[in-house]
Amino acid sequence: MADNEKKKSSYISARESRRITRFNRRITGKLEKARADAAKDPALYTTRMEDPDNVVEFDNVCTYFFTDVGVVKAVDGVNFSIPKCSTVGVVGESGCGKSVTSLSLMQLLQRPSGQTVGGEIRFNLGDGTAYNIVNTPNSIMETIRGNKISMIFQEPMTSLNPVFKIGMQVDEVTKLHNPEMSDEDVKARTLEMLDLVGIANKEGVYDMYPHELSGGMRQRICIAIALACSPTLIIADEPTTALDVTIQAQILDLLQNLKDKLNSSIMLITHDLGVVAGMADYVVVMYAGRIVEKGTADDIFHHPAHPYTIGLMRSKPVVGKKVEELYNIPGSVPNPVEMPDYCYFRDRCEMHCSHCSGQYPPEIRISGTHVVSCYRYLEEGEVLKYPKSVNVEEL
Ligand SMILES: Nc1ncnc2c1ncn2[C@@H]1O[C@H](COP(=O)(O)OP(=O)(O)OP(=O)(O)O)[C@@H](O)[C@H]1O
Ligand code: SF4
Ligand SMILES: [Mg+2]
Repeated sequence: MADNEKKKSSYISARESRRITRFNRRITGKLEKARADAAKDPALYTTRMEDPDNVVEFDNVCTYFFTDVGVVKAVDGVNFSIPKCSTVGVVGESGCGKSVTSLSLMQLLQRPSGQTVGGEIRFNLGDGTAYNIVNTPNSIMETIRGNKISMIFQEPMTSLNPVFKIGMQVDEVTKLHNPEMSDEDVKARTLEMLDLVGIANKEGVYDMYPHELSGGMRQRICIAIALACSPTLIIADEPTTALDVTIQAQILDLLQNLKDKLNSSIMLITHDLGVVAGMADYVVVMYAGRIVEKGTADDIFHHPAHPYTIGLMRSKPVVGKKVEELYNIPGSVPNPVEMPDYCYFRDRCEMHCSHCSGQYPPEIRISGTHVVSCYRYLEEGEVLKYPKSVNVEEL
């Protein structure tokens, strides 16, 4: 096969494959060792928040997967924060890095192949200090997961254990994080949670197995489990995708009400713009592992600035508006193993200009709350920073 044909077909020779395996083993070994060393020294995993009113700050976070075909830069230089008591929506098409961003925050990446190789994820401890989650030891992470940060997944049946009764599964979380509580108090707390998430027959459901409940009820149980310890942050990764539309609305309302009751924040991951529009205070739009635009929900929905966001808005059906054909963004996302060194959206962008052939665009502030990574705003906005990729050869 000619060299350029091999490149196009992602062909990897046996020799190249061996080289990649050796390289991955060396780098991941080094990274695991560096992590273990950092976890021994509190000075390396405690830090300060940039703004104490934020619960979490992602600061130039780079999470890569060292795979058999090369390095996948799933999240590459992501900056955004989640303010206290707010809902931040993370949107973008499939594979853009939404889940990997949240898994990096929970330290639930598939290691050793998945590694956060750069940046800081600061989690506010409420006393002026913060943990840098990237270096935080597992013993501390166990006190954070399910307690201070909890997660609701897309498919409730896979989150619940089919062989244990509902009551036992909710009890377990409370018991784990509050070992001093008596069995009666734990059960009372579980019943209180079931009541809170709108389960009518709470005593009966306590003794049921997951398969005896409907999809909507199962998702309510997952929410009860996630909220059992009153977390400061709830990560909801496509919480309603597996549910029908009427149940979707109920579950979203429930999440929003409980968030206000518990003074928590929500990181709401979805590819459904309708869900984000109804719930989020702030919106972050991701494309190919990077944030292309962020701002308040009003900025993003009423004044979208990035050509990708504009395309997403145009491709959304609007009730009562007649169109011949729904718009779709032409082309496809670049190969994650070989990202270009110019704007990742350029090959699909209908608005590209002369600047766009240069390096990847910087973050440009176009209003107090609205930031966009696109050269079209170079003259009118304030250039903040360029995303920093990590050179894996130098690790
Ligand atoms: N364990 C893994 N090993 C290798 N690559 C991975 C792994 N997990 C995720 N990736 C890659 O990381 C990128 C981002 O994946 P991620 O799951 O974050 O997408 P997503 O935005 O959540 O998509 P979706 O909307 O489909 O859930 C993808 O290119 C994916 O192939
Ligand atoms: S930087 Fe250029 S190519 Fe990229 S989105 Fe903006 S206009 Fe399009
Ligand atoms: Mg996902």
